[in-house]
Amino acid sequence: MTTKVTWYGHSAVQVSTEMVSILIDPFFSGNSMAPVTAADVGADVIVVTHGHSDHLGDTVLLARRTGALVVSNFEIVTYLQKQGLEKLHPLHIGGGKSFSWGRVKLTMAMHGSSLPDGGYGGVAAGVLLNLGGTTIYHAGDTGLFYDMKLIGDARIDLAMIPIGDNFTMGPDDAVKAVSLLRPKMVAPMHYNTFDVIEQDPNEWAAAVERETSAKPKVLEPGQTIILE
Ligand code: NI
Ligand code: MN
Repeated sequence: MTTKVTWYGHSAVQVSTEMVSILIDPFFSGNSMAPVTAADVGADVIVVTHGHSDHLGDTVLLARRTGALVVSNFEIVTYLQKQGLEKLHPLHIGGGKSFSWGRVKLTMAMHGSSLPDGGYGGVAAGVLLNLGGTTIYHAGDTGLFYDMKLIGDARIDLAMIPIGDNFTMGPDDAVKAVSLLRPKMVAPMHYNTFDVIEQDPNEWAAAVERETSAKPKVLEPGQTIILE
């Protein structure tokens, strides 16, 4: 099965197969790097890693328009229910669910998770997707943690990890993360959207080439890569 992955800047990622189109952290409004608006994208499923507005993003708007199923942690799903959404599936850290189109598992992340109304969003998560044998890890927002080594046991085809520093791990820790995760391919995210997270992704990619066996892939916003 062919899996297409498109990066929209920040942590907004679309993963599509013949069976499903999944949007992770659909932050378009206010995303200075997004080449499209929320009105331009479709989805069958939306996965939200945590409640911060640069990740929850346009979830409510998009789910209303597309009728997409939203998968997130229990607290965020409860919040979305109060916003009037009905197609929701709650998970929590360490738990996964196999759907007809693939499996979604929430993994730990070292980060906060408050909701736009100031409410408690549970704990922040990362996401492991398994779609027809292809494994994709989206780390959400996180600092470096050693248990990434356990997450790497899933044999990750593509990892998407933050490199921006300030709110998440920065470039140096993100190289260590790649060593722990051992993915075949890795793409940086959560950088250059705001002044405080400015980074040179190509410099980071060169360090990944030097210090790990993963293939770094720096994406342009809107660029799609195909995983066979
Ligand atoms: Ni965050
Ligand atoms: Mn963030």
